[in-house]
Amino acid sequence: MKITELGYVVIGTPDLEKWRHYGTAVLGMAAIDGPGGTLYLKMDGRDFRFLIQKSAKDELYASGWSVDDEHSFEKVRAALKDAGIKTKNGTEAERKLRKVQAFFTFKDPAGLRHEVSWGPIASFSKFVSPIGTKFVTENLGLGHAVLPTSDIDATVKFWTDVMGFGVSDLLHLSLMEGVPPIRVYFLHCAAGRQHSLAYAELSDPTGCNHLMVEVDSVDEVGRALDRVDQNGVKLTLTLGRHVNDDMISFYMITPGGFQMEYGTGGSVKDWSNYKVFESTRGSHWGHKFLGAG
Ligand SMILES: [Fe+2]
Repeated sequence: MKITELGYVVIGTPDLEKWRHYGTAVLGMAAIDGPGGTLYLKMDGRDFRFLIQKSAKDELYASGWSVDDEHSFEKVRAALKDAGIKTKNGTEAERKLRKVQAFFTFKDPAGLRHEVSWGPIASFSKFVSPIGTKFVTENLGLGHAVLPTSDIDATVKFWTDVMGFGVSDLLHLSLMEGVPPIRVYFLHCAAGRQHSLAYAELSDPTGCNHLMVEVDSVDEVGRALDRVDQNGVKLTLTLGRHVNDDMISFYMITPGGFQMEYGTGGSVKDWSNYKVFESTRGSHWGHKFLGAG
């Protein structure tokens, strides 16, 4: 396995201040001003997990994947080259902004941008949430990303054959009665999270369906639900429990237009002893869709 975890995400927005408020008051992360008018959201011992930068439109600019060391970094780059996928080295200013030894970018078959990096640089300063939130990230990465694709077969084949991910499970999800279900493929890297990445047969102008962050108790999920209400954030899926990763969570619209899943109790898997499965419903209970608008 080459990729270890979802190390960070880069979010583009015309309005950083929306993310500063949302990141601190709703998510419970610490906001730190970065160079060149950027904003970091810190949620653990890393200097940041969310990098927010100015952009003409709201979007998930890139998903940042980590590898263990320079050797693995070069192996991933070579695998992409062998597959005929172009990679581009980050500039020195971009590398410093991401606080890594090195990174390159590439686009997946869905046309979405990803970054691969090694050697995060951190001061290991203690994470102090402005509202006392504790996130679950250690050895698991920041959470997961669920991304849209118009060609799910080619996209999943790329992530398994070239990037070394494994399929965790497949969901046939009915969005509306009378409409054929869409497929959602859940994928895992080396981290024990049941999925760090998933692709759904959807389109989304933001380049993202949702990101997920995990907190340490169901009370923290409940308190977040209170903050969603207090801050006028749009709830999209009610509290529920997923069948695949056992996460108790809810979903809301972020300032970026895509959703954030906020959950607890995600299962941690031993990949040497795991069996892939297919499900016809996403949740044991709850997760009622309230509309995206
Ligand atoms: Fe999710």
